[in-house]
Amino acid sequence: MSTAAPDWVDAGDSRDHRADAQQAFTAAFDTEPEGIWSAPGRVNLIGEHLDYNGGPVLPLAIDHRTLVAASPRSDGRIRMASRQDAATWEGSLAELRPGRPTGWCGYAAGVLWAAREAGRPLSGLNLLVDGRVPVGGGLSSSAALTCAVALAAAQLSGSGVSGDDARRELAAICVRAENDFAGAPTGGMDQAVVLRALAGHALLLDCTTFDAEQVPVPHVGELLVVDTRGHHELTDGQYGGRRAACERAAQELDVPRLAGLDVTQLPGLLPRLSDDELRGVVRHVVTEVQRVGAVVSHLREGRLLEAGPTLLESHASMRDDFVISTPELDLVVEAAVAAGAPGARMTGGGFGGSAVVLCRPGDRPAVAAAITGAFAAAGFATPGMLPVQASGAAARMA
Ligand code: GLA
Repeated sequence: MSTAAPDWVDAGDSRDHRADAQQAFTAAFDTEPEGIWSAPGRVNLIGEHLDYNGGPVLPLAIDHRTLVAASPRSDGRIRMASRQDAATWEGSLAELRPGRPTGWCGYAAGVLWAAREAGRPLSGLNLLVDGRVPVGGGLSSSAALTCAVALAAAQLSGSGVSGDDARRELAAICVRAENDFAGAPTGGMDQAVVLRALAGHALLLDCTTFDAEQVPVPHVGELLVVDTRGHHELTDGQYGGRRAACERAAQELDVPRLAGLDVTQLPGLLPRLSDDELRGVVRHVVTEVQRVGAVVSHLREGRLLEAGPTLLESHASMRDDFVISTPELDLVVEAAVAAGAPGARMTGGGFGGSAVVLCRPGDRPAVAAAITGAFAAAGFATPGMLPVQASGAAARMA
């Protein structure tokens, strides 16, 4: 067995991050920012690929956050820079068009475009991004970026951002930025939790109405996120392919949304579908809806660790029926269980990215070491280990 040490990716101290973002802003724009905002990444506890199927999801915000330092400009121009990426962009609000600019600037610019399309007042802006959610890790670094920019732009333009209704509107703007500007067919779960999460809680979100309930996460277990560093992007077509399969299945069954089907209907419905791919996606969606209900009950009863077997079933469903796992994600689950973790599953869009592992109190270091060893033995890249807890929504930091 290898002795490779786990590569811990700690969230660190947010006060230091504020100072870093402030300094980088001053270096880029030669002036002080008017404010600093931050938005979290997210991990989905259960309910995968249910948002665009109109089902329930149960994500939580993590304590790894993206910061945006910003100030308004009176000339209607936008200037953007980042601490992580040399790409910058400068242009006017009026010249923003879907698909231009691209890259991380496209996500930030897309928010301003979508806000304008929604009729919101906007000034020009200087924006400095400090992205601290691992990019491509399946932890919604893009939603952290768009939501932090949306909040900064709204507050600097005098729009209200407090209250659930205001947050829901901002989330819709961020979804539009990703879907229609950046070309990422995201389903809305990520932006909702990034803007509406409550520390210590998971967000039970009904993706038909986008109504949400806060469900306390009991302190009887610990969550470990494992970034396999097998990176994925929502724009690479694989995620869109699964979404399209769900739409075909709904059409063949003549139902408005797959998540509205009940598990008892499956034996009658599956034979009506034209191929095994569609049977698999329907089986995953319908059984995953049930699993969300089971995990919510465990949380409400204060028995987080008892949710473990349901997380394992969810992983098997994504591996075998929805077919979006990878050998690395499967190995995280296998090694975590072998090390005594009650449950684990891949999380997010799939085809790479991260898994979430439920650990008994105090077990996180041992589970992380076992997974790191298993990756080394399999010849995979060293995974990143993020100790996470349910954190708060996007907010102004200074
Ligand atoms: C990505 C998307 C979400 C959701 C998940 C899968 O994170 O952005 O909208 O569909 O995949 O649950």
